[in-house]
Amino acid sequence: MKYISILFVSLTTSLLVVSCNNSKNEEVKNKESREYVNDVHTYAKPNTAVVSHLNWDATVDFDNKLIQATAQWDIESSDNADEIIFDTYGLDIQSVQADGKDTEYHLGAFKEELGRPLKISITPETKQVSIRYSTTDSARALQWLDPEQTAGKELPFLFTQSQAILARSWIPTQDSPGIRFTYDAKVKVPSNMLALMSAKNPSQKNVNGEYTFKMPQPIPSYLLALTAGDIAYKAVSDRTGVYAEPSLLDTSVYEFQDLENMVQAAEGLYGPYAWGQYDIIVLPPSFPFGGMENPRLTFATPTILAGDRSLVSLVAHELAHSWSGNLVTNATWDDFWLNEGFTVYFEHRIMEEVYGHDYSEMLASLTRDGLQRDAEEMMKEIPQDTRLKLNLEGRNPDDGVTSIPYDKGYFFLRLIEEEVGRERFDEFLKNYFEENKFKAMTTEGFVDYLMANLLTEEQASKLQIKEWIYEPGIPDNLPEVASDRFTAVDKALKRIMEEKIYPPQGVAEAWTTHEWLHFIHQLPKDISKEKLKELDQAYHFTQTGNSEIAAAWFQPTIRNNYEAVYPRVEEFLIHVGRRKFLTPTYEALMESGKEEMARAIYSKARPNYHAVSRETMDKLLDYKKADEQENESA
Ligand code: BES
Ligand code: ZN
Repeated sequence: MKYISILFVSLTTSLLVVSCNNSKNEEVKNKESREYVNDVHTYAKPNTAVVSHLNWDATVDFDNKLIQATAQWDIESSDNADEIIFDTYGLDIQSVQADGKDTEYHLGAFKEELGRPLKISITPETKQVSIRYSTTDSARALQWLDPEQTAGKELPFLFTQSQAILARSWIPTQDSPGIRFTYDAKVKVPSNMLALMSAKNPSQKNVNGEYTFKMPQPIPSYLLALTAGDIAYKAVSDRTGVYAEPSLLDTSVYEFQDLENMVQAAEGLYGPYAWGQYDIIVLPPSFPFGGMENPRLTFATPTILAGDRSLVSLVAHELAHSWSGNLVTNATWDDFWLNEGFTVYFEHRIMEEVYGHDYSEMLASLTRDGLQRDAEEMMKEIPQDTRLKLNLEGRNPDDGVTSIPYDKGYFFLRLIEEEVGRERFDEFLKNYFEENKFKAMTTEGFVDYLMANLLTEEQASKLQIKEWIYEPGIPDNLPEVASDRFTAVDKALKRIMEEKIYPPQGVAEAWTTHEWLHFIHQLPKDISKEKLKELDQAYHFTQTGNSEIAAAWFQPTIRNNYEAVYPRVEEFLIHVGRRKFLTPTYEALMESGKEEMARAIYSKARPNYHAVSRETMDKLLDYKKADEQENESA
């Protein structure tokens, strides 16, 4: 089996060995291929000493906005190991023990993005190391919310975001996606709060605010997660449910009524759900992502609460990660497309099962248009990042989070599906997940598996497999998507623009969010303010409560100086911290001569953003520089 050293025979690894059956790759397995691959984003040397289990004991201190904790790690080491190395970022290390006795340790030099290595002296016999520490203000994963930033406005709130390499800012860990461990945790929060992790979770508050957690399946550190606040739970089915602040719970349960149907659709496609329970928590609006696939408990933005269940493909996406990503995990962040491309593919398949083909083809069409727009832009500035296999050495892995791993990845898999037929492709994917579960996968490992199990050399060269993976740009065999429902929208839009004839009553009213998104995307680049006003009067885009439609509408309106939208833009940017919406909106402001407005809004909004969004917007708006200039002129 790949990447797990034969040196480390423990309970976990032997279970893993058992779960690995005889794939056709068996004969190529030699000692080398059993080792962890090199990951440039960790200091850990797992081939020397690696973690297998975490026992985490923590107190969440809202007054001082820090976590005081002990991380006790079970470890496995090679015959001549004399140290084990952990990743840390801004942690205050207080004491370190090896098998219960104080031991020497050393914090190495700080590197941007990576933080500092924590090197702990051990012997090959050492079974356990224990690190007492607290987090600091530089904990990039944590967002501490004041009560005003929550729906309830009474209690503060905390959530983490560990992907890609931010887990190290709240737990000293071997922070590489190829290194897995099980965990137990004991977490103390204020007595009126509920705490949840990416683990077996409580469904009710208790009086003392002490909660215990268990994650019996091995996970990589980027899937470590914690949240605490005024949170309540409602089940949707025996094994699915929703957590949210009490005032949002019913709305959320309504929106996610199809949870169980989605899990069943997913299982029908690619095999049993491996994690027991599947819940979602709806977080406050500053959550920087749409969703995060924390095992057993997806973290989600409230901006998907559209009221009409039209944005639940995000749930299908995070659920799909329970296979692609959480079971079969990208070995390094350069292989990120193995997580996201597979997940977008799987997401579309779940959507097709639950809502039908013409619905999922609308989604695929939006995906294709978005990919082409983004790839065209990226080819001008950063063509190397349009390859599926990335090279993120010396960079923040966050730089790799673009439409490429997601949507180029999706269309690459769809291309293969179209070549071999759906039946064979599904069989292939099901086996891929089964044979590689709880393991890390490299791009090369996947290509080997693909060639051993699905494609002939002729097919691979016809499909341009190598070009898709290793070359910049989008190959000329990008699969086509035909959506009749979008063709109807195109016709209606044409009549509106050319003849000022609006579709008859009832037609546009029946459109879903996706038809509206397509409609807005298709507006001419330089559309007049008058026309925008006319459309706004007809369809009330500026006032929409649908976050996707609002964010799409900000593009043509900001870029063509339709001033009526500005107050809504400001309100949106201050309220919402989801990076996918912030980036294009601030970009539109900056690129249309409204830098001053962008910065004025940002200075009000910035305190509300999670570090992940702040870091991106600081760059986009040249925030530090603007700050210094202000200081200089003062
Ligand atoms: N795992 C990602 C989020 C992520 C990626 C966080 C990389 C940090 C680094 C999650 O599954 C995701 O892709 N979320 C998307 C939603 C989706 C429907 C494309 C998002 O947040 O918009
Ligand atoms: Zn994803």
